[in-house]
Amino acid sequence: MPKAVILGGTGLVGRAVARRLSSSGWTVVSVARTAGSLPRDLVCSGVVLRVADRTAPEGLENALAEGADLLVDCVCYTAADANRLLPFLGDVGSTVMLSTKAVYVDERGRHINSPTSPRFTGPITEQNPTMAPGNGDHDSPEGYGANKVAAERTLLDSGRPVTVLRASKIHGEGASPPREWVFVKRALDERKTLFLRRRGASVDHTTAAVNLAALAERVAWIPGRRILNIADPDSPSVLEIARTVGAHFGHEWDLRFVDATSPLGRTPWDTAAPIVLDMSAASLLGHVPVGTYAEPVGPALDRLAEQARRAVERGEGDEAIVGASFTGRFLDYAAEDAVLRSGAEAAQCSEAAAL
Ligand SMILES: NC(=O)c1ccc[n+]([C@@H]2O[C@H](COP(=O)([O-])OP(=O)(O)OC[C@H]3O[C@@H](n4cnc5c(N)ncnc54)[C@H](OP(=O)(O)O)[C@@H]3O)[C@@H](O)[C@H]2O)c1
Repeated sequence: MPKAVILGGTGLVGRAVARRLSSSGWTVVSVARTAGSLPRDLVCSGVVLRVADRTAPEGLENALAEGADLLVDCVCYTAADANRLLPFLGDVGSTVMLSTKAVYVDERGRHINSPTSPRFTGPITEQNPTMAPGNGDHDSPEGYGANKVAAERTLLDSGRPVTVLRASKIHGEGASPPREWVFVKRALDERKTLFLRRRGASVDHTTAAVNLAALAERVAWIPGRRILNIADPDSPSVLEIARTVGAHFGHEWDLRFVDATSPLGRTPWDTAAPIVLDMSAASLLGHVPVGTYAEPVGPALDRLAEQARRAVERGEGDEAIVGASFTGRFLDYAAEDAVLRSGAEAAQCSEAAAL
């Protein structure tokens, strides 16, 4: 049986990769710092959790001393993280490093975390310019992409068979925060009125964790040094995402379009110009996605509804599911109700008019 080690194997991406590989007959070791954090279905399917800190001197030794056919690193954020991996890569058949579309810059050097939004002229290929490598705080708007570029280069320059996967906005079971919550919550609360900026036309490419897992398994069988974008085969707009969630719960929206500067109508996928990843390179390598956005997102929506029901039973607020800042920023019912009462600001439209 081939063996895979997943660093960060209990998170959004790691769970999806572990599920995919274990169901295809791999022996899977998931590495995370928290004991008991492996979901029950993965425990039952034989995935082993190894508790280790990837940044501690002995952490990678514990995880990788015996080698692996496939290493998937979901927690490689800096050149220092990448450097720690290098001594172990001789005993690894194929390595996958999780990177991000945040590395890409437009013609003016703007990236997705810039103060001014980027404007890409079309689907972004892997040859698109990136930020320069950097080593500041990887948890900052300027540092996230720059440190990822530095980590990518460290691994690729090693000459080992490393595949860098640049993901867009990842969705799936275990997402933190789960972006679809902005529509799930409204549907569960039976709130019909939905304010949207830019007529809901913003596109920020979605990446299903299960589609990413399919590509990770594919490259395991064809080791090489490469960079690949990973996103869903379609690129739904904000309005299409809202409709997918609404349809899943049998909920219809009463749409109100607001100006892009309005405090209302924010969603996590708002962009000034479309952000779409070109998927040709992965397709040429034989990548077969599990489905379009609407297909794999369903189970994650059901899980959110279930978490919400349990939170109510325990007397907890929505913050228990998604965190307070997420709830406050995107779900300000009081502000929306004030606008509705005043009859001002929003242009009402029918579903048909929005097509
Ligand atoms: N989520 C997105 O939309 C998105 C988009 C583009 C790219 N990415 C990239 O995708 C990767 C995975 O993201 P994700 O959303 O799956 O993350 P996540 O859900 O936050 O999961 C992180 C995982 O890593 C583990 N972990 C964190 N620090 C660790 C350490 N020092 N040693 C060992 N394990 C550690 C966590 O468990 P413990 O806390 O128990 O250790 C958890 O299993 C990241 O590299 C991110 O940059 C994410």
